[in-house]
Amino acid sequence: MKNYTDSGGMGIPDDLVAAINDLKQQKNAVILAHYYQESEIQDLADYIGDSLGLAQEAAKTDADIIVFAGVVFMAETAKILNPSRKVLLPDLDAGCSLADNCPSDKFSQFVQAHPDHTVITYVNCSAEVKALSDILCTSSNAVKIINSVPKDKPIIFAPDKHLGRYLIKETGRDLVLWDGSCIVHEQFDHKKIVRLKARHPEAEVIAHPECPESILNEADHIGSTSSLLNYVKKSDAKSFIVVTESGIIHQMEKACPEKTFHPAPPENGCSCNECPFMKLNTMEKLYRCLRDETPEMNVPAEIIERALIPLKRMLELS
Ligand code: 13P
Ligand code: SF4
Repeated sequence: MKNYTDSGGMGIPDDLVAAINDLKQQKNAVILAHYYQESEIQDLADYIGDSLGLAQEAAKTDADIIVFAGVVFMAETAKILNPSRKVLLPDLDAGCSLADNCPSDKFSQFVQAHPDHTVITYVNCSAEVKALSDILCTSSNAVKIINSVPKDKPIIFAPDKHLGRYLIKETGRDLVLWDGSCIVHEQFDHKKIVRLKARHPEAEVIAHPECPESILNEADHIGSTSSLLNYVKKSDAKSFIVVTESGIIHQMEKACPEKTFHPAPPENGCSCNECPFMKLNTMEKLYRCLRDETPEMNVPAEIIERALIPLKRMLELS
């Protein structure tokens, strides 16, 4: 590897982009990043996508090392699909409120209390919860996955109650919901969004289905991060109120520089809404993790074996 200038004297090169690209080549590594990552990480990644796209990409990579610029449940998914490859996550504290509030022991009791139900679980959950599920889904394919279950078969849907309610409406199925939510999407302020709409009557409202129902009722389009991005590319509208984590706006602005994107405000007084877990990853941590090949994401072999079944079912149905 080249010697990069380190003017801070802390072992961190000034040109992090060049240093990371160098390490990536040297180690045959691939960087997979979610749309909620900071812009610099998105610009550096080999692939940027929503949860489904990232899982599909992880399933087909032949890199020796996968660096996941995302959160724990995404890196675990990559590990389940690639048990023999090294999967790195720049910060192991990058959790998710949905996964964290669905512990596997409680979830197992919930499943046992509903015998004969098909267990459909949103990928935003731990590897242990995946192992207790029949089929996984993301917000991109949830409707399709639910519709693949025979009509007379009752369904448990976990862990996001807002996505669950949206899916009940979309599919007409009576889902038994786990009481979980995303701390980011739950924080959007309905009144402020209505005021923002009044200030920009020409703008279309696009929202992620992890938002509560009152917010989704304001939306012109509802979908996963990839779906929202595709929508703004195709729409004739010139401006949009974006009701999801504000990281996605970077790709929207790159794809449609002539259009305007207004981040929807949360209740906490900030002007945009960021996921504190996603934003734990930084360029510096990404560099260190690729250089030192740690922190590494590991999942017990027995969990991998069981979690792979519902994960493969999802990928086959997608
Ligand atoms: P998607 O990118 O699959 O829409 O998921 C959003 C999300 O909250 C990921 O944590
Ligand atoms: Fe989890 Fe919400 Fe953050 Fe996505 S945005 S990682 S669902 S807390």
